[in-house]
Amino acid sequence: MVMTRRRAALLVVAVCACAALPSTTTANKFSINWKPNTNYSDWPAQHGPFYKGDWLVFYYTAGQADVIQVDAAGYNTCDATNAISNYSKGRTYAFELNETKTYYFICSYGYCFGGMRLQIKTEKLPPPSPPAAAKDKSAAAFTASRASLFYAAAAAVLAAILRMF
Ligand SMILES: *[C@@H]1O[C@H](CO)[C@@H](O)[C@H](O)[C@H]1NC(C)=O
Ligand SMILES: *[C@@H]1O[C@H](CO)[C@@H](O)[C@H](O)[C@H]1NC(C)=O
Ligand SMILES: *[C@@H]1O[C@H](CO)[C@@H](O)[C@H](O)[C@H]1NC(C)=O
Repeated sequence: MVMTRRRAALLVVAVCACAALPSTTTANKFSINWKPNTNYSDWPAQHGPFYKGDWLVFYYTAGQADVIQVDAAGYNTCDATNAISNYSKGRTYAFELNETKTYYFICSYGYCFGGMRLQIKTEKLPPPSPPAAAKDKSAAAFTASRASLFYAAAAAVLAAILRMF
């Protein structure tokens, strides 16, 4: 009997602890069919926004295309001479957007001039949950009162548990 109540009490504590955990942000994965004779200039606007830590996964066929990371000048002139990275083995190529900056990719097989180039600007991760205080004082007060209700309830549960033993 005591053990059962103790177990139930532990379960309540565990559930409360999980409910109080902040939600975590996860990186997104963006798949892109990297094909000749395709104009990718609108692709970022259609698929973004992109955040630091997200991944681009290029699907392409070896011999038909490659994925060359270049700087802005290389992007503008479709020039792969000063490649930052070079992937030509085909199938898939996963690239982590690990910095907050603009990334440039081109295909060096000549299709870049037809639009086969990609410009991706990454943004900083947004804060996990924006504080309500900055937006609306009454909303903040409401949130605060809800929070204190939560803690009062948690305290009551804990007190009840302590009385059990
Ligand atoms: C990419 O690397 C391959 C193999 O090393 C090489 O043949 C090719 O010329 C390189 N392409 C560019 C644009 O640097
Ligand atoms: C991002 O990744 C590139 C390629 O792996 C690496 O050279 C660079 O140092 C990394 N940047 C950061 C901030 O980790
Ligand atoms: C690609 O599309 C953009 C906008 O849709 C356009 O401005 C640009 O000229 C196109 N590029 C080519 C090479 O057709």
